[in-house]
Amino acid sequence: MSDTILIIGACGQIGSELTQKLRETYGNDHVVATDIREGNEDVTSSGPFEILDATDTEGILKIVQKYKVTQVYLMAAMLSATAEKYPQKAWELNMNSLLGVLELAKDKHIKQVYWPSSIASFGPTSPKINTPQQTIMEPTTVYGISKLAGEHWCNYYYNRYSVDVRSIRYPGIISWKTKPGGGTTDYAVDIYFKALENKSYECFLSENTRLPMMFMKDAIDATIKIMQTDAANIKTRTSYNLAAISFTPEEIAAEIKKHIPEFKISYKTDFRQQIADSWPQVIDDSQARQDWSWNHQFDLELMTKEMLKNLQ
Ligand code: SER
Repeated sequence: MSDTILIIGACGQIGSELTQKLRETYGNDHVVATDIREGNEDVTSSGPFEILDATDTEGILKIVQKYKVTQVYLMAAMLSATAEKYPQKAWELNMNSLLGVLELAKDKHIKQVYWPSSIASFGPTSPKINTPQQTIMEPTTVYGISKLAGEHWCNYYYNRYSVDVRSIRYPGIISWKTKPGGGTTDYAVDIYFKALENKSYECFLSENTRLPMMFMKDAIDATIKIMQTDAANIKTRTSYNLAAISFTPEEIAAEIKKHIPEFKISYKTDFRQQIADSWPQVIDDSQARQDWSWNHQFDLELMTKEMLKNLQ
């Protein structure tokens, strides 16, 4: 394949596994990993790596020209919980990075862009069960506002300048290689670490808080799949709903107990409860399944086995 890929935010939770998978697919030298700081050793040593601030559009252009980059995956963002602490900073990072990359695509420096949106782009007035692709979207978090605005910027650049930008509304992503940071769905990662370390976990969401979630492998597969799909099949240029599993803290704890019978969960909710309560519980992703044959592999049972096996 002749594409050369730039990943911005390559040391983050999704970026680190995406880098690895893209390097396997396109060849190590065809995938340039960048992040604001060095992190993941695999990422920095398995192929080209550069320090890059996602909001530095000039810096991005230099790297695009140096490596003859054709595609950008923009994975840098401030997640929901941290963004509530630094609303202004979150807006600047999440918006300026996207607008910069879209401008580079408009000016034909790059051919294709991937940018993730989130279930956070929905809000308390959206239907919570089987949330449709197109529905009321009134997010109440700064992260959600930035994602919804970003979706419309993507659509605008596609319609007005024919920029080939593609996007997915990720649910909470569960992984064992790199931990997430500053998200509301992070509990579903931490719980596995703590189950093995301490046989107990204090959860910051209440027992019945149902949220859409997905195992990392499925998220990576979806991300690469949407980018490799024929452009004619990408019918949504805001962002696609994407779903795999939905569960509550109580349900994930019960699944873990099947492997670690002594495991105990307790609950002490904080400000993240309000964020979670504003999001959908179950997402309808039939459009992604129809347009680009998306299909998930991991349910709660299989994911729990994988998580515990790899963390042990
Ligand atoms: N996982 C993200 C968060 O919790 C949602 O996209 O912020």
